[in-house]
Amino acid sequence: MDKFIINGPCKLKGKVNISGSKNASLPILAATLLFDKPVEISNLPGVKDIETMLKLLESLGLKVNRNKKKKSVKIFKSKKIKTQASYSLVKTMRAGILVLGPLITKYKKAITSLPGGCLIGERPVNHHLSALKKLGMKYNIIKGYIHATAHKNLNGKKIIFSKISVGATENLIMAACLAKGTTILKNCAIEPEIRDLINFLNKAGAKIKWIGRRSIKITGVKSLNQVKYKVMGDRIECGTFCVAAVLTSGNLQIKGFDPKLIRTELTLLKKIGAKIKTSLNEINIEGKKNLNSLKNLATKEYPDFPTDLQAQFMVLLCRANGISKITENIFENRFLHVGELRRLGAKINVKNNQAVILGNNSFQGAELMSSDLRASVALVLAALIAKGKSIINRIYHLDRGYENLEIKLKKLGVKIKRIH
Ligand code: EPZ
Repeated sequence: MDKFIINGPCKLKGKVNISGSKNASLPILAATLLFDKPVEISNLPGVKDIETMLKLLESLGLKVNRNKKKKSVKIFKSKKIKTQASYSLVKTMRAGILVLGPLITKYKKAITSLPGGCLIGERPVNHHLSALKKLGMKYNIIKGYIHATAHKNLNGKKIIFSKISVGATENLIMAACLAKGTTILKNCAIEPEIRDLINFLNKAGAKIKWIGRRSIKITGVKSLNQVKYKVMGDRIECGTFCVAAVLTSGNLQIKGFDPKLIRTELTLLKKIGAKIKTSLNEINIEGKKNLNSLKNLATKEYPDFPTDLQAQFMVLLCRANGISKITENIFENRFLHVGELRRLGAKINVKNNQAVILGNNSFQGAELMSSDLRASVALVLAALIAKGKSIINRIYHLDRGYENLEIKLKKLGVKIKRIH
């Protein structure tokens, strides 16, 4: 298993390009199951989850021609489409559930492994299933698999989600795209990655329209056209580099991401003490020595503060003056990084879904264990300000979602090495 060795402390300086978004690419790739015609997708990040999704599509019978250098992929339909998504692929990546909507609407049949819980929470898919049922899908859970069928085309309906869910919104958009009639989705997630999925499908001839802040109208079409699409930049990678700049009192020019999409995060970073200048697809961010604490930082659905940046902000608040509080509202168990941060010298108390961070911490390098994707990157950030050597084990978690992290950090002045 690979590990990182980081020698800190360091100051990040220079220019960094943001890779394509993992969480936008995954539903877009799943949506290629809706097509009879070829699809070309570019700006795909070279990360493990994308490899897993491409393997899943291949296992379902799609032909996948990936050009890793160009970060693009051409996907063609073959004659033999299978409709069973295996446990071995879905267990390593929960986004595997995103093939259910496309398979059931296009092929009227799907057997997809039911994703289990994961370290950060139970993460059920009940809202995906009940909403698809309203469109006409029937299903049974047998031996860990969702066995789904539809007698004929799915039928458009009005669906009001009782909980805002990114994945359920995406699955329903894809399913409704080829359903008969009109579907109205209410109380949808409105993450930029969902807008990217809609832009992709509309470019191919789908009829999807925003009809309110969290409402979407989808008029079913018979088929989708051949299309080329460039995936948006990665919102969470961009936020992570912004935090890294402020944390290390560094100075970064971050390119390839629209700053308007992370307005909440940038406002918070300014409150903490960052100097920020933005222009089209560029953020210039500088950190200073003295940082301010945040009294009440809470994760919430977009456009509020994202759970996927909670761990990174926690590291930053360890360096701030005074006491900060973070409330995690999305996942039940997303403070896995706290124990490891304490090993570096952090003073954090956790009670239920709240963490109280006593600021002004100085970190000493130590050997650490990654637990999930965002917790792992938080450990890397912490190692950047720790004195001496830190070893971060099990970075396969990180490889699921950060493209060339160590290469990017090295260019910005970090002493980081990957050990195989
Ligand atoms: C997406 O997961 C992201 N994954 C996650 O990113 C992200 O943390 C999450 O949205 C929240 O922003 C991808 O886009 C591939 P949800 P998703 O359905 O769709 C509950 C990362 O680090 N819920 O919006 O699975 C659920 O348990 C990852 O890149 C139900 O109860 O998240 C959670 O508490 C991790 N029933 C909340 O809703 C359901 O049927 C939000 O989950 C569905 C969800």
